[in-house]
Amino acid sequence: MKPRILVVDDEPAIRDSMRMILEYEGYEVLLAGSGPEGLAMAERDSPDLVFLDIKMPGLDGLEVLSRLRGTNETLPVVIVSAHGTTSTALEAGRLGAFRFIEKPLSKDYVLDAVREGVELGSLRRENRTLRTALETRQQMVGDSVALKQIMEQVRRAAPTNATVLILGESGVGKELIARAIHKASLRSKERFVQVNCAAIPEELIESELFGHERGAFTGATEKQTGKFEQADRGTIFLDEVADMSPKTQAKVLRVLQEGEVERLGSAKTIKVDVRVIAATNKDLEDEIAEGRFREDLYFRLSVIPIAVPPLRERLEDIPTLVQAFVSQFSRENNRRPARFSPAAMDALRRARWRGNIRELRNAIERLLIMTERDVIDADDVVQIVRSEAPRAAAAAGESAPAAGKPATLRDFKEWSERAFLVDKLREFGWNISKTADVIDTPRSNLYKKLEQYNIKQDTDG
Ligand SMILES: Nc1ncnc2c1ncn2[C@@H]1O[C@H](COP(=O)(O)OP(=O)(O)OP(=O)(O)O)[C@@H](O)[C@H]1O
Ligand SMILES: [Mg+2]
Repeated sequence: MKPRILVVDDEPAIRDSMRMILEYEGYEVLLAGSGPEGLAMAERDSPDLVFLDIKMPGLDGLEVLSRLRGTNETLPVVIVSAHGTTSTALEAGRLGAFRFIEKPLSKDYVLDAVREGVELGSLRRENRTLRTALETRQQMVGDSVALKQIMEQVRRAAPTNATVLILGESGVGKELIARAIHKASLRSKERFVQVNCAAIPEELIESELFGHERGAFTGATEKQTGKFEQADRGTIFLDEVADMSPKTQAKVLRVLQEGEVERLGSAKTIKVDVRVIAATNKDLEDEIAEGRFREDLYFRLSVIPIAVPPLRERLEDIPTLVQAFVSQFSRENNRRPARFSPAAMDALRRARWRGNIRELRNAIERLLIMTERDVIDADDVVQIVRSEAPRAAAAAGESAPAAGKPATLRDFKEWSERAFLVDKLREFGWNISKTADVIDTPRSNLYKKLEQYNIKQDTDG
């Protein structure tokens, strides 16, 4: 498509010559003779670039520029003036014009500005798209009480400088929570520096965290600032914090206590003002008991502990999460959003989700790609997602405990309910009415349970 260029100038001669220059090069040209007319066209015809005259009766160019900025932040503007003083040029730059050219207009300058401006506009738009995509990806959604409580904890912790320790299985959203705290904090304009302590080799982690001077060790050919220094005035996120060596733990403890770091190979201490958020999927109490994690560091880190439950303990989040992921993927891939049938949603609720929300997200993406249909059904889900053991096992006539120890609270409830019923039925010689009576449940309910758990008289579990 031809780039569309809007020229706003009160002098007809200038408009004419601009039109000639631009149309000759194949651009589409829109002309406005006043500020208000220019604003209206900018709004209605979405040009790719604007040439804006400064000196116009009524609404002048600078005023038009600042209004354009307010409504369209990606539109590139070139300021044109016959009376170019340095101060107007500066003011125009401050208001967001990317270039300033003077009359009489030179064809080369005009065309050069057009090429640069069109390029700049498309970069700005791309940038904005990416940023919005990232922001939606970083939105926390969910309806469970557990998640609402976490959001409340985030809200309270955010404005403070207190250290936060986020605990939870892999894929439950620990990083997302850390970012949410930073974003809602007074430090949100400063950096969020993430360090994955498990991914950095032992011998490099100290220099990574604290930096080093040139020549501090073999291979240290350049001075390097550490992550703590980089995060000064912002937030550092120590991910997989349980994977730090005892020596590094001691140094991190010192930063937390004294608020200062030393680069390797330097005796100078550097003050840093850093908010620390840490996360791990390990059981830190175990790590402490085994002597792998310092208890004093644990206390320092867990001023505000946030425990994130696994997805299988907050199944109420599934529908909202699914909806959010579907709309993200369809937007990113320009596809019509698919719908999940109630049975499909049920199947999703029954899955194990050992990889938690990350696994759910991947599963949804795979489902959308594999089943190019508008409505996704239970069959589709079952083919892609591992489903929970007890029901499958019960349906196959096995006793639930044979599938191993129950892994979740629900597995355990179902498993023990079944065991209880079998036990009572035996006690009363498989007399349904009597058993139902004794355990105080309607007979119909007992029949339902027998079917649900596939309990038969010869059942031995
Ligand atoms: N409440 C939520 N709403 C929307 N997306 C979420 C939510 N929680 C997690 N996610 C998404 O799930 C994925 C995993 O989240 P995240 O990386 O934060 O998990 P984690 O706990 O840090 O995992 P790991 O321990 O493996 O590093 C990410 O894509 C994240 O955006
Ligand atoms: Mg993580």
